[in-house]
Amino acid sequence: CGIVGIISSADVAPRLIDALKRLEYRGYDSAGVATLRDGHIERRRAEGKLGNLERRLEGDPLPGQIGIAHTRWATHGAPTENNAHPHTAGDVAVVHNGIIENFATLREELEAAGAQFQTETDTEVVAQLVSRYLADGMAPREAARAALARLEGAYALALLFAGDEEMIIGARHGPPLAVGHGNGEMFLGSDSIALAPFTDEITYLEDGDWTVVTRSGAEFYDGEGQPVTRSRKISRGAAYVVDKGNHRHFMEKEIYEQPEVVTHTLAHYIDFAKGEIRDGADKLDFAALDRLAISACGTAYYAGLIGKYWFERYARLPVEIDVASEFRYREMPLTGKMAALFVSQSGETADTLASLRYCKGEGVAIGAIVNVAESTIAREADAVFPTLAGPEIGVASTKAFTCQLAVLASLALAAAKARGTLTRAQESEMVQALVEGRRIFGEVLRSVQPRIERLSRELSQYKDVLYLGRGTNYPLALEGALKLKEISYIHAEGYAAGELKHGPIALIDEAMPVIVIAPHDKLFEKTASNMQEVAARGGRIILITDEKGARAVSLKTMETIILPQVADIVTPILYALPVQLIAYHTAVFMGTDVDQPRNLAKSVTVE
Ligand code: G6P
Repeated sequence: CGIVGIISSADVAPRLIDALKRLEYRGYDSAGVATLRDGHIERRRAEGKLGNLERRLEGDPLPGQIGIAHTRWATHGAPTENNAHPHTAGDVAVVHNGIIENFATLREELEAAGAQFQTETDTEVVAQLVSRYLADGMAPREAARAALARLEGAYALALLFAGDEEMIIGARHGPPLAVGHGNGEMFLGSDSIALAPFTDEITYLEDGDWTVVTRSGAEFYDGEGQPVTRSRKISRGAAYVVDKGNHRHFMEKEIYEQPEVVTHTLAHYIDFAKGEIRDGADKLDFAALDRLAISACGTAYYAGLIGKYWFERYARLPVEIDVASEFRYREMPLTGKMAALFVSQSGETADTLASLRYCKGEGVAIGAIVNVAESTIAREADAVFPTLAGPEIGVASTKAFTCQLAVLASLALAAAKARGTLTRAQESEMVQALVEGRRIFGEVLRSVQPRIERLSRELSQYKDVLYLGRGTNYPLALEGALKLKEISYIHAEGYAAGELKHGPIALIDEAMPVIVIAPHDKLFEKTASNMQEVAARGGRIILITDEKGARAVSLKTMETIILPQVADIVTPILYALPVQLIAYHTAVFMGTDVDQPRNLAKSVTVE
C-alpha cells in the first residue's frame, strides 16, 4: 500500500491524489483520502482504481488544508469501499501500510471495552486504540505513542486528529516512510518519488522512528521516544519523468527501453573500451568466500537463479538460492566465509528486506542488486550494485529483470576474476560477448514483434501453457510462465526440460502449447529429445531458438522464433525479450489491464 500526508495552507486533496498516482505501484485495489474541514474529519473513498476516487472527488470535492490518503493492496478484508483507508474511530483517521499482526487480540480487547468496529481490516485497531486513549484523556501525541507501543507487526502509519489542524503524526516500523520539507508546508509519503512534485528535500524515518509533522517542520523520535536528529537529503526522485511516450502501455515502453538501459547498466560494471570488468565491481571480496547466498522474490528471484548458474560455472563459487520468504525461516546455518546477495527492483520488498536483516544480524556481508537507489535495501546493504533501469512502472517486471541479469553476469565475472578462475583472455571474450550482445537487442525486438503478435493472438485462445528450458534457460522458462500468468491470467507453468518426463508430460495434449526456450548450446540435443517427447504425444510446440537450432529440429512446430546466435552468457538476456513480448501481446489480446493486473502490486511491503 502507499500512504501520503500533507499539511499546508492551501487545499490538499488534489495534491494528495497526485501523490497517490505515483504510489499506485504499491497497490491499486481501492483508495481514499481524509482531510479536516472546520476541525472535523471528512473522507472520500472508492473501490477499484484511483480513477474512481478522482471521479468521486470531482462530484463531491473535499476541502481542507491538512489531510492523509492511501492506495491499497488488500491484506485483511476484501477490497471494498468500506475496507478502504483512511479508517476512522472517534477523533482520529489512519492510513497504514503493512500488517498489524496482533490485531485480533487488540480487537478483542477493544470490543470488550465497548468499541464498535466498522471494517474487517487490521488497520482499524490502530484507529480504535488511539481513539480509546484520546477518550481516556490523553493528548493526541501521547495517545499515538501509547498506541504505537502496543502494535506488533509491520507498519508505516499516518494519523490525523479531529480538532488539530496543526499536525500529522507518522510512524515507521518496517515499511518505509519519508518526510518532505516544503516552504510553509510539509509532506509525508511512502517514498520520495510520491513527493517529487512538491519537494526534493527528504528525511527518511529510520526503523522504529515516529514523527510529528507541522507546517513549519518535523520532530523525530526513536522507538524509545527520545528526540533524534535525522538528516535531510536531496532526493533524485524529482528527476524522473514518467510517461508512456508513444507506447500503449508502460510495459511495452519498458520492454523497448531494454537495449538502452541494459547498456547503461553494463557500462557501469564493464569498461567497454578496455574490454574488462571495472575495478570496484567486486565490492564483496569474492576471493575470500566459500559460499554465496542469493535471495529475492518473484522475477528478481528468477534473475538470481540464473546468477547462481553463472557464479558456480564461471567463478566456481557455490551458491545457495531461495525465495526470500523461505530463506528467512529455513534456519540455514550461516557459517563459514559467506556473503549474501539480495536482488530487488524496488528495494522495499518486505520478505527480501527481512532476509537481509536476518543475515545482517548473523554478521554476514550483504550485497544488494537494486533499482531504486534510495530504497531501504540499498541503504541497509554493505555493498550496493545498482541496476540502471530507470523507474519501472508496469507491474510485470521486464527491464529491471534484464538489468539484474546484466549486473549478475558482470558480478559473476568479477568474482571469477578475483578467484582466479578466469584468464585474461576469457574475461575479454566474455565481456566482448556482453558488449556485442546488447547491440542486437533493439533489432531483435523489432524483428520478432510481428511474428509474436500473430502467435499471441493464437495463444490467447488457450487456457494453459507450459514453458521448458535447460541450464540458464530453465529459470527463464519459470520467468516466462510467471510473466504470462500475471498479466494474461492464462495458467502457465515453467519446468526444467529434463523434468518433463517426471510428471508434467501427463498434461500434454493439443490444448496445452509448450514454449521451448532452446538456443543451440551444448544442452540443445537433450532439450530436442524432450521436444520429441512432447510432439509424440500430440503436443504443440513453440520453439525459441537460433538458426542452428531451427535447422537441427525436424518436427513441425506451431511457431519457431529465430534469434541471432550469441554466447552462452548472453542467451538468458536476449531470450528474455521474446518471452516478455509473448506475455505482453497475449495479455493485450486478452484485454486485461496490462500495467496493473488484478490482485497484484509492484512492490509488496508486507510479508
Ligand atoms: C512483486 C512484483 C514482481 C516482483 C516482486 C519482487 O511481486 O509483482 O514483479 O518481481 O514483487 O519485487 P522487487 O521489487 O523486490 O524486485
